[in-house]
Amino acid sequence: MSDSAVTVNGERRSLAETATHTTALDWLRGSGLSGSKEGCAEGECGACAMLLATPTADGGTAWTPVNACLVPVYALDGQEVVTAEGLGDPEHLHPVQEKLAEAGGSQCGYCTPGFACSMAGEFYRADRTPRAVPAESSDVSSRSARSTTTECPEHGPNGFDLHALSGNLCRCTGYRPIRDAAYSLGSPDDADPLQQRLARPAPDAVATDVEVGGSRFVRPATLDEALRLLRDEPDALLVAGSTDWGVEVNIRGRRAPLVVAIEQLDELRGLSVADDVIEIGAALSLSEAERGLDGAVPLLAELFPQFASRLIRNRGTFGGNLGTGSPIGDTPPALLALGARLVLASADGEREVELSDYFTGYRQTVRRPGELIKAVRIPRPLAAVTAFHKIAKRRFDDISSVAVAFALDIDGGVVTSARIGLGGVAATPLRARATEEALIGRPWDIATVRAASEVLGGEGTPMSDHRASADYRSLMLNTALLKLYSRTVIESKEVPA
Ligand SMILES: Cc1cc2nc3c(=O)[nH]c(=O)nc-3n(C[C@H](O)[C@H](O)[C@H](O)COP(=O)(O)OP(=O)(O)OC[C@H]3O[C@@H](n4cnc5c(N)ncnc54)[C@H](O)[C@@H]3O)c2cc1C
Ligand code: FES
Ligand code: FES
Repeated sequence: MSDSAVTVNGERRSLAETATHTTALDWLRGSGLSGSKEGCAEGECGACAMLLATPTADGGTAWTPVNACLVPVYALDGQEVVTAEGLGDPEHLHPVQEKLAEAGGSQCGYCTPGFACSMAGEFYRADRTPRAVPAESSDVSSRSARSTTTECPEHGPNGFDLHALSGNLCRCTGYRPIRDAAYSLGSPDDADPLQQRLARPAPDAVATDVEVGGSRFVRPATLDEALRLLRDEPDALLVAGSTDWGVEVNIRGRRAPLVVAIEQLDELRGLSVADDVIEIGAALSLSEAERGLDGAVPLLAELFPQFASRLIRNRGTFGGNLGTGSPIGDTPPALLALGARLVLASADGEREVELSDYFTGYRQTVRRPGELIKAVRIPRPLAAVTAFHKIAKRRFDDISSVAVAFALDIDGGVVTSARIGLGGVAATPLRARATEEALIGRPWDIATVRAASEVLGGEGTPMSDHRASADYRSLMLNTALLKLYSRTVIESKEVPA
């Protein structure tokens, strides 16, 4: 019998006999912890959010909000989570619950446990720094507080980053009371047990190998072990953050006979910034990569906030985004513009491929059976002018209809190098090679940009689908370069204060 277990709200709970495809949400609710709700089962609404204890760079712990509906519960073997029930109860409300109640941030209450968990993640964020503002601005009961905008409308006076709630939907209350609650939060008390927990290390990864009803879930202890499994078991399916796989399980009913969880393998979690290359481990979550890079790659810094929601970025990985081979993933256009290479590893060794050679057809790549993506390498120096344009139906938590990434060097007013990555306009992500040629060696002026824009509008083979029509996609391509040009013109005219 499996001795797999998860610590929930401080109590160790066995996973014995739980089917391997079970999500954390179904398991929690089945165990009587029905505070976490299922709104969509596909990562879109955040009603299922829970807090996961994750390691920090200084050896402590962070409470990281994630979508319980997407994570296979065995991926949490040996780990620690907190649900809305673990934050507080009606007699002892947690500060986020108290503020939500005071601000009128809940009506039917269906979304509230999820909002409370996302807010709690931000409440405990170690680098959340309150800003000095007049005292009355933080009083949610005052009329002025409700209309107060601070320097950045998406950050509260208490340093609360509203993007933390980008993966939570509320269909009946309206978002202003929820925002008011978030912006009125103070700092955690030293006696707060969840705050005290952060000083100790997060749980180590636990090697897991369970089989229930003919399906197996394995968390190998090392990369070598994972690669041997991939070599010996042709049915093995890799899972990292499970933000794509979880949707397949829940919505399409897919089941895998053998799931191999790789997101905690140290060998896939490195991040280094050297003079000649930046390397990002394939199993780092987007949020971890964002924090680790800390703006070192401006193009990625522009991409991160546009990628899904904070809840999804807290689990989704570069490896998973590239591993699907999807033509509408957001990292491929950016990484193509950056001239990235992929490190592919198998039991036979490692090889490096140019990302521009990686995609071979719709969801087809050069990755061989038994290979996984180990890391992404971005050569330095980086291009000086970069931009990431994502066109989607929603500003946050949506897949791109079209994505365009630019990386140009302009020297003495002339374009000396250009790499442009496109997503959503062909069966694969691709480089806009004809447009690049139309730019290189030419002056960076409106005439060049207009001519190159016509070329860009004709790149790819856009299709019509539920996200956008083919014509719309071409038009978005056509205008992307003009948008970049106008930005560079505005920036060149800006006078330093
Ligand atoms: C609500 C929602 C919003 C989303 N929004 C966006 C968005 O804005 N932009 C976007 O690009 N994507 C988006 N996605 C898709 C998804 O979050 C990303 O593709 C994410 O990067 C997947 O990473 P993961 O680790 O969760 O992958 P998983 O689900 O774990 O795996 C996905 C696939 O990749 C394979 N895989 C995983 N790791 C590796 C590896 N190291 N080597 C080889 N193969 C591997 C797996 O076998 C599987 O087939 C969204 C998803 C949801 C549910
Ligand atoms: S139930 Fe909607 S995001 Fe999980
Ligand atoms: S309170 Fe009803 S959905 Fe948010």
